[in-house]
Amino acid sequence: MGKFDVDKLRRDFPIFENYSLMQNKRFVYLDSAATTFKPRQVIQAADYYYEYCCANSHRGDYDLAHMVDVKYLEARKTVAKFLNAKDPAEISFTSGASMSLNTIAYGLSDILNEGDEIVLSEAEHASNVLPWFSVAEMKKVNIKYVPLTKEGRVTPSNLEKVITSRTKIVSLAQVTNVLGYVEPIKELISVAHKHNCLFVVDGAQSVPHMKVDVQDLDCDFLAFSGHKMLGPTGIGVMYGKLELLKKMKPLLSGGGMNSRFDTCGNVAYELPPAKFEAGTQNISGAFGLARACQYLEEVGLDNIVEHERELRIRLLDGIKSNDKIIIYNKDADSGIVTFNIKGVFAQDEASLLNSKGIAVRSGQHCAKILMDFLHTDATVRASLYLYNNKEDIDQFIDALNNGGDFLDAYFN
Ligand code: ALA
Repeated sequence: MGKFDVDKLRRDFPIFENYSLMQNKRFVYLDSAATTFKPRQVIQAADYYYEYCCANSHRGDYDLAHMVDVKYLEARKTVAKFLNAKDPAEISFTSGASMSLNTIAYGLSDILNEGDEIVLSEAEHASNVLPWFSVAEMKKVNIKYVPLTKEGRVTPSNLEKVITSRTKIVSLAQVTNVLGYVEPIKELISVAHKHNCLFVVDGAQSVPHMKVDVQDLDCDFLAFSGHKMLGPTGIGVMYGKLELLKKMKPLLSGGGMNSRFDTCGNVAYELPPAKFEAGTQNISGAFGLARACQYLEEVGLDNIVEHERELRIRLLDGIKSNDKIIIYNKDADSGIVTFNIKGVFAQDEASLLNSKGIAVRSGQHCAKILMDFLHTDATVRASLYLYNNKEDIDQFIDALNNGGDFLDAYFN
């Protein structure tokens, strides 16, 4: 099992003990694609702001405010290093992946003319579809979708098929949130660049689980959330190449993002990242997110990939002979397993699993277009992370294979 001691690591996460005290059964959390638990180290780093250095950033001329500025910049540098960004100024803190993608979509709307095209896929999360719909309506541009393979993957050759001379932007998830495929993002980016398109990566499900090197990928933009990678809620990141960020207009206006404005309505923006950080920021969240990056590096992202892979194999082995289970992503490369039990509504299945102490997500997982592709109204999704262990998987397998009366009623 991986190159770290998962049972020792679990002791970093207070919720395992705290929540267990409220339960009379062993609790298994398999919903980390929705949000993750937080280790003590991250909670302490976020609390540090409130307990030791609480002042506004970039506004005060006193020692305490300076201390906040220094630590806030340190947090930005930590995230930049985590992504191998060229310059910390390429990292803007946002409230999460959704805000990052909205900021990117709005910011890039200036490069679009009527009749241009934005390319997405049918496997995208709402956060990587709806901001583009708004921009498409505003600029009268067309949204196109890369055809998925029959398993639901995005391939460079299929991307090549939809790009035309009118395509300006391609925006795709590196790991899709329902099928959990690790898309060949570097190759996809290279296809887009060959056609002079900008490439936006939705990294919400990739950055928490694998090494993402923005320079190696050569992506133009990347969006992700802190809460899916052991960090606090309400903090996320918008990465952009500096020369693009300098040209891009901000979505939000307010204090801190301008250097000057006058009564005629002239506004001079600050340079990135300040240009994209209007208003008082989630400073505590940034401290927590930076600590989450360090925590993941300490465990080792390659170790996390390997750990999730081993757990996934154990899970699939445990249910492969159960012909009542339909698995939608048998060959996925991440810790996401999406399935249905024949004849059982996904939400009922999730409720049954809950009664056995197991937390999974059911429904459409914010990827509403994908449900048509899968020919189902809803699915159950189990998503793994570094703190899951073999016992979690075995308890889950047992619950699926021995559903009890509730499932038998449907099976018969
Ligand atoms: N985006 C999160 C998920 O896929 C909420 O579950």
